[in-house]
Amino acid sequence: MQIIPEEKIRQRVRELGKKISADYAGKQPTILILTNGGIFFGVDLLRELKNIPARIECVRVSSYKSGTRSSGNPEIFGTLEPDDFAGRDILIIDDIIDTGRTLKRIRDQVENFGAKSVRTCAFLDKPARREVNFYADYTGYEIDDVFVVGYGLDYAGNFRELPFVGKIC
Ligand code: IMP
Ligand code: MG
Repeated sequence: MQIIPEEKIRQRVRELGKKISADYAGKQPTILILTNGGIFFGVDLLRELKNIPARIECVRVSSYKSGTRSSGNPEIFGTLEPDDFAGRDILIIDDIIDTGRTLKRIRDQVENFGAKSVRTCAFLDKPARREVNFYADYTGYEIDDVFVVGYGLDYAGNFRELPFVGKIC
């Protein structure tokens, strides 16, 4: 069942792009996209940035093995090079915030690399599920505690390609 149709996604991404472009005016931020889920939103958002010469980095993070509950221990696959982050303005992008552990862990790590500034952006936020004290600087939509798929979000690796966000009934 659809909960956020394609047009609403596009509209919100455009708004976020405007806001982020204004906030980063005159800067050259590094956009760190958390894959696999953050790819769709990350790329769409990058295309909505106006006059921002952004650099891009990606890192793969996984906290769900195959079910609908977080393992509570996000695993980072691959390495982040401290030199890519030290002294730079970093914007970390993910698809959704659930317990908050994934974005918090990556943000803390990037801060430890000596980034000049670190902000976070997630398309969706499920505040009812939070287990750590974490709030993103930018979010698209807040949703209830339901498991969603589409627009990058998967269930056991499936449904990422759906152009809308839907819930599994
Ligand atoms: P957190 O570390 O618990 O905040 O989990 C965030 C990660 O869990 C996201 O990057 C997603 O990969 C995954 N996730 C959380 N909720 C959902 C959902 O409803 N559908 C699909 N993936 C989800
Ligand atoms: Mg993820």
